[in-house]
Amino acid sequence: MPKPLNIGIIGYGFMGRAHSNAYRKVNQFFTLDTQPVLKAACARSEDTIREFADNWGWESIETDWRALVARDDIDAIDICVPNNLHREIAIAAAQAGKIVLCEKPLARNAQEGLEMAQAVEAAGVANMVWFNYRRIPAISLAKQLVDEGRVGRCFHYRAEYLQDWTISPELPQGGETLWRLDIDAAGSGVTGDLLAHSIDTAIWLNGPIASVTAMTETFIKERELQDEPGVVQPVGIDDACAFLVRFANGSMGTFESTRYARGRKNYNTFEMNGDAGSLSFDLEDAHRLQYFDDGDDDHVHGWRDVLVTDSEHPYMDHWWVPGCVIGYEHTFIHALADFLKGLETGEGTQPDFRAALQTQYVCDAVLESAKTGRWVDVAGD
Ligand SMILES: NC(=O)c1ccc[n+]([C@@H]2O[C@H](COP(=O)([O-])OP(=O)(O)OC[C@H]3O[C@@H](n4cnc5c(N)ncnc54)[C@H](O)[C@@H]3O)[C@@H](O)[C@H]2O)c1
Repeated sequence: MPKPLNIGIIGYGFMGRAHSNAYRKVNQFFTLDTQPVLKAACARSEDTIREFADNWGWESIETDWRALVARDDIDAIDICVPNNLHREIAIAAAQAGKIVLCEKPLARNAQEGLEMAQAVEAAGVANMVWFNYRRIPAISLAKQLVDEGRVGRCFHYRAEYLQDWTISPELPQGGETLWRLDIDAAGSGVTGDLLAHSIDTAIWLNGPIASVTAMTETFIKERELQDEPGVVQPVGIDDACAFLVRFANGSMGTFESTRYARGRKNYNTFEMNGDAGSLSFDLEDAHRLQYFDDGDDDHVHGWRDVLVTDSEHPYMDHWWVPGCVIGYEHTFIHALADFLKGLETGEGTQPDFRAALQTQYVCDAVLESAKTGRWVDVAGD
């Protein structure tokens, strides 16, 4: 019998649902010695959290996250709430001896992230940040190809993360559903929300980022508050951000993100160009990896369109037959399976809080450079 691991989740929104689904399915598709138990779900509204708990099969509810953290029957706290709450909950959970799983970005800034990393390390508790895009089979395959030397010496890394949902000046800011537009709740705009994903993937594939120069823009300068109709306040977040980087390995990178790219919904792409080959990925076509191998014979030189569904591909031996694609929700199941395996072996799972802190340092450098107009060296441990 697998060993039960009692989970307490905080937040029932987008990520609360994605994680609940992962807890329910992981043991059906992965052979593990640990079985997550959906012990308690927490949010402030009793009615809403009750409905959520009933729908997903959570055994009990709490309306105060402190009460959840204090419970003796909870082994792991899963943080699925807006960014301004990550630090306080993670530190309290670590001090209570709980395993801590936290949504990305780790925190609103590197100082908060550092305190969180120090807290889980001081408490000696297992921890992970849900940078789930690493667990897309095509991106995991990209990592495998990089590690096999198929890109070779990398010259260029370029990433884009484009959406279009904040273009209307009528869209309010803050409140329950638009906290991403509130600088106090989110910490930053596209930099912490979208580029954090791009940066995590880039560091994983291409190593540390040494320095950055950035520009940001806030296109809509004032918005009504969602919670106080008629009250208009300045917008503090970056609506768009573009930056150049120098990687520690000598390659150069370009990153762009915006929520003002009309027609783009979740356009998250990257390309790497090296002396041996190139790789290219697009989240909206997530089961494919484009690969160019300079070692191919001249008469068949060209980009390969690899359909990442064979059992030889990362994670795919747990799913269906070749040619059957999987989706977004599976990335969370993969992350959870890796985390549980890491618990069982004692080796831990990446990215842990310390690794996710490196992304936070890059975000801080990007925002500082956008303010000063200068190149900024990325801080580190
Ligand atoms: N890994 C990813 O791809 C990904 C995708 C989306 C969001 N996220 C991250 O997940 C986190 C949550 O985002 P979301 O999209 O799920 O947000 P959401 O707005 O859909 O849900 C937020 C939840 O937090 C709850 N909440 C707010 N304050 C609370 C409090 N004081 N106590 C208890 N519950 C509280 C809300 O009731 C709601 O259930 C954010 O940090 C976000 O950056 C990650």
